[in-house]
Amino acid sequence: MSTHTITIANRENATYEVDAKKPLLDSLRDQGVDLPYGCKYGGCITCAAKLLDGDINQKAQVALNNRQINDGYVILCVARPQSDCTFEIGVESHDKLYRNPFFDPLKPHELKADIASRAKVSSQ
Ligand code: FES
Repeated sequence: MSTHTITIANRENATYEVDAKKPLLDSLRDQGVDLPYGCKYGGCITCAAKLLDGDINQKAQVALNNRQINDGYVILCVARPQSDCTFEIGVESHDKLYRNPFFDPLKPHELKADIASRAKVSSQ
């Protein structure tokens, strides 16, 4: 079994060894980390946490738009670690997760991947 070390920065840097092939939500909850969840298939955003360092695979998620992904959000119920990772979890990590759509509308390339336009690349 391939494992990685997960550090929870805002829980006094607690560390956990997790299976690289198992969703992070399951691995961490199995070890007693109190994490919220809803659908458990990547659709509802309840389990989002912020990745501060490391690589994950969350191709199965459909809850996040491109802005949230670029801000480092990870859907823990479907994400698998691809390296050692550091996260911030819980409401403290949600500072950029939700936005007021009137004050801060998404740009076309920040929408969900299936409807987003490509980010404008400046040509010289
Ligand atoms: S529990 Fe719904 S997206 Fe993870």
